[in-house]
Amino acid sequence: MIEFIKKYPEMCLNAVKIAEKVDIPDYKFNKIVICGMGGSAVSGDLLKDLLKNRISIPIDVCRDYHLPAYVDKDTLTFCISYSGNTEETLSQFVDCVKRKSKIIGITSGGKLEEWCKNFNLPYVLIPSGYQPRSALPYLLFSIIVCLQKLGVVNLHKEIDETIEILKKIKIDSVKKLANSMKDSTIVVYSSDEFSGVVRRVKTQINENSKMPAKYDVFPELDHNEIVGYQNERLNNNSFVLILRDKDEPEEIKARIEITKDLIKGKVKGIEEIWAEGKSKLARMMSLVFLGDVLSYELAVLNNVDPVEVENIVVLKKRLKERLNLVEKLENNIKIKKMK
Ligand code: PA5
Repeated sequence: MIEFIKKYPEMCLNAVKIAEKVDIPDYKFNKIVICGMGGSAVSGDLLKDLLKNRISIPIDVCRDYHLPAYVDKDTLTFCISYSGNTEETLSQFVDCVKRKSKIIGITSGGKLEEWCKNFNLPYVLIPSGYQPRSALPYLLFSIIVCLQKLGVVNLHKEIDETIEILKKIKIDSVKKLANSMKDSTIVVYSSDEFSGVVRRVKTQINENSKMPAKYDVFPELDHNEIVGYQNERLNNNSFVLILRDKDEPEEIKARIEITKDLIKGKVKGIEEIWAEGKSKLARMMSLVFLGDVLSYELAVLNNVDPVEVENIVVLKKRLKERLNLVEKLENNIKIKKMK
């Protein structure tokens, strides 16, 4: 896992090279939806963080079997599944086909690749052999390149800066941090600007470190979450980690300081990790990187294998035995007949 994490700069660069070569039709659209689950869907959350204050086209992430009613022929839909075999994502793909949305697939293979080929749809084929969550740079940078090709954004300079920051980032402080957090329930907070990043950090702690964790964002958490700290008995094993950014607005800074003051002494510890870099993409990816390293270090301290995700594997197997949904979906859109 740590070898994968160290490869992030290389993965960003490769993703750009791979996605650049994909032919994307001259799609016209007025909204963007990212369809996926788990480690694949997080790329969509990060895209939202990155672009929400820059482009006027709405972006949404859909993590379910079916798409919201507004998805139509004027929607650009990225169907993203690292394995290519996730049933919710494949079910959303079928919805996309039926609604004639503009589809781009991102996958390392599986049914998603097969189905994209079958319908003659553009897709980015990224390398196999990773855990879905450790392929995040491939997934996110593929989306960015596709959007560049469609003229939605121009992030060339940000991509270059991000790769440089990821190469230079120091991880020693995160190692120390892992030591103080290792026996706690981890609570991760950030500003709403980084809501995708904070979700990523939480899910990496779940999957890599095999630990319970939760997340929330400022300013919303100041309207409910903080009241939970009034019950000291239930919080004394919580460790709060706050993702900070030099560009956070005054009002967010003030809220973070006051919140820290209110919960101090009621939790096991409060620590911060600061984003590095100038551009939003670099700042986001620096936090993702540090969060990933933290989750890895916690796994080492907990003496667990950061790669395996047994509960996910067993759940997917049992669902397949019970529902066999993918085969039903194939019959539903008659993919076999078209081959
Ligand atoms: O991290 C993981 O392994 C999971 O969260 C997967 O990403 C999730 O189950 C979806 O699988 P995939 O990304 O292959 O579509």
